Amino acid sequence: MSTTKRIGILTSGGDAPGMNAAIRAVTRAAIYNGIRVKGIYRGYKGLVTGEIEEFTNHHVSNIVQRGGTILKTARCLEFKTPEGRKLAYDRLVEEGIDALVTIGGDGTLTGARIFAQEFNYPIIGLPGTIDNDLYGTDMTIGYDTALNTIMECVDKIRDTATSHERLFFIEVMGRDAGFLALNGAIASGAEAAIIPETSLEKDQLAEMIENGFRKSKNSSIVLVAESDVTGGAMGVAERVKKEYPQFDVRVSILGHLQRGGSPTAQDRILATRMGIAAIEALLDDQRNVMIGIKNDQITYVPFSQAIKKDKPINHELLNTLRVSSI
Ligand code: F6P
Repeated sequence: MSTTKRIGILTSGGDAPGMNAAIRAVTRAAIYNGIRVKGIYRGYKGLVTGEIEEFTNHHVSNIVQRGGTILKTARCLEFKTPEGRKLAYDRLVEEGIDALVTIGGDGTLTGARIFAQEFNYPIIGLPGTIDNDLYGTDMTIGYDTALNTIMECVDKIRDTATSHERLFFIEVMGRDAGFLALNGAIASGAEAAIIPETSLEKDQLAEMIENGFRKSKNSSIVLVAESDVTGGAMGVAERVKKEYPQFDVRVSILGHLQRGGSPTAQDRILATRMGIAAIEALLDDQRNVMIGIKNDQITYVPFSQAIKKDKPINHELLNTLRVSSI
């Protein structure tokens, strides 16, 4: 039986649609189980500086549909130092918080893992990032919404690309991962995706052009994952201008609009299930794991695996895109 009486909850790193749904689910599941909740503002920074507030059911009303995070978020340099983490620990003791739920991506879970080890402190992580790059879960919170946003944007660019018979390179986010680019390309009917996972294996641009991607089409759209490995949309477009000057090329970088907007049903449900699972994990005396969902089943992924292991892309999807875009 767990001894957890009061938890703290925070969001950290890049925000993602569905984080509010997760905050709501964690808070309600805690209250439902007789555990008190404190909201910590601005991620680990608020833990160090003490921006902490007692949360009631009321704090999380009417937020399931809102993008961003009501707890705000920040990247905290101080928490990367042992002195900063000690201040954070002292604050938790002072506030009577005996476990943490942290929502965020790779950086958030890395901070959680170090802190948990250093102070033998129970933490449960929820995967909140549009990048979908955390091992041990099929989807991260925010990924589906970002994918839908990308699809809507590409649909719009398609109109002008068709009218002008142009080749567009559209850059999407994803940090070092190509999930948004690859699945965004399939969903929007783009002609190709240039992703970091296969950039070192083959010259994706040359392959696309050699395959005669323009044989039957007068306009084309290629999604490029942001990354030094792909060169980003600008890098790829520069190359085309030099090597294939016959194409009328344009670039569009979607940027931070991919992080905003009301979460999709998929993200709201994912966040709600994961939020409740976080509290159930604490009640079950689990600690230092990230909640994942694989094949529709809740999984508990040790922080070290969620962060360290590279999440592979499904290679079948490369073929799906190739075949569907001829
Ligand atoms: O990790 C989420 C993410 O949106 C990445 O896709 C992107 O590379 C990065 O954050 C951008 O971070 P910032 O908002 O700090 O510019």
